[in-house]
Amino acid sequence: MTLAREFGTPLYVFDEETLRSRARSIRDAFLRAYDRTRIVYAGKAYLSPALMRILVEERCGLDVVSGGEIYAGLVAGVPPSDMIFHGNNKSRAELQEAVAAGVGLVAVDNDLEITLLEAVSRESDREIEVVLRLNPGVDPHTHHKMRTGAVDSKFGFPIWDGQAASAAARVCESESLRLVGYHAHVGSQIFDPLLVEQTIDEIMAFAGEVRDRLGATPEVIIPGGGFGVADDASGGDVSIDEWANATARAIERGCLRYGFHSPVLVVEPGRAIIAPAAVTLYEVGARKTIAGVRTYISVDGGMADNIRPALYGAQYTVALANRDPEGEQLLPVTIAGKYCESGDILIQDAMLPALDAGDLLAVPMTGAYCLAMASNYNLTPRPAVVLVHEGRAILIRQRESYQDLLRGDICTEAADISMDPGSLSAGKRSL
Ligand code: LLP
Repeated sequence: MTLAREFGTPLYVFDEETLRSRARSIRDAFLRAYDRTRIVYAGKAYLSPALMRILVEERCGLDVVSGGEIYAGLVAGVPPSDMIFHGNNKSRAELQEAVAAGVGLVAVDNDLEITLLEAVSRESDREIEVVLRLNPGVDPHTHHKMRTGAVDSKFGFPIWDGQAASAAARVCESESLRLVGYHAHVGSQIFDPLLVEQTIDEIMAFAGEVRDRLGATPEVIIPGGGFGVADDASGGDVSIDEWANATARAIERGCLRYGFHSPVLVVEPGRAIIAPAAVTLYEVGARKTIAGVRTYISVDGGMADNIRPALYGAQYTVALANRDPEGEQLLPVTIAGKYCESGDILIQDAMLPALDAGDLLAVPMTGAYCLAMASNYNLTPRPAVVLVHEGRAILIRQRESYQDLLRGDICTEAADISMDPGSLSAGKRSL
């Protein structure tokens, strides 16, 4: 209530203690299972410099997928050597930026990238350490838009048809690249740790073949992230201990079978670290009852700050946040966003007490892939973000202004308008 009054809504509220404890418990679980593990946070889930600083203190590295993410990581103080550069179409400029910054490892995804990386390496006179991104053909049984390692995927070198073997040969023959290991992230929202075990079995078998043919032994194995997290805050998340044990089992089995020394295991959780660390606050606006069908309650945010329900059918939950509804009758309502799209529904069939305009709703588990995928659809400013720690809240991202919305626009005849979200005044100010 106080936060909403002070910072406005929609508001993303991150809790420092939750963020730290998630990172710590994942790290501890993996170190218990396999003591040569490094946790590399997948920045695509949400890369805020203020939050990343906390994760650096919790000894996380950073998985980056663009020049922008490398930049944000550097701003957050991530040592470049702790970054891994992913992506299925890295540009030459981005590869140059990564190498110039000193990014530790590049996950090579395709043949063009090998060519580009060799050129960049020659230009900069630096040897570049790479892992090969493999497509092991493992179906992760998740939403089709979150699959990355099934046969039909744009990511990685397919193992089964020899493409991965040819790529390994190219890298091994290269004078400027050094093959240090293998990567395969097969998808997100995986709830069965046996899939990661299967993925690592495939990686290790491939590593065995490469060793026999080319002599390269794996120093690093990266089965990605993908830890299933229940969007509905039910706690039905995949067990990190089981995941860590399955991972360790598969690596140790592979080491025995192929005679490898224990490689470093890198895991790249995004959602599992950051999703539970945030709650979104929305203010209730219009109500509309369609007799015999449903009651819509519209809030002041929606698909532009959280596209996951519209894109993946993600099912979040919601609670009344500004008063105690103790004893009040609960009624079924559908929480709609404010955007000009019928598909802009945040939560179908929530049970809530009778709501008035001005009430506040809280949607938990919104730390991952919400703000990271936010847009300015309908020219709406993106929300403010605060970080709460020991009862204090600090602003870590300000709400965008109307000027921010047009920052990149060029219009020589632009009228000189001053207008801010929520302000009634209009005066003179230039773009
Ligand atoms: N490593 C790599 C190479 C990845 O591509 C990803 C996610 C991760 C790690 C982290 O996965 P996580 O632990 O967060 O599941 N926008 C979708 C998720 C896309 C994930 C893309 N890659 C969503 O909102 O669910």
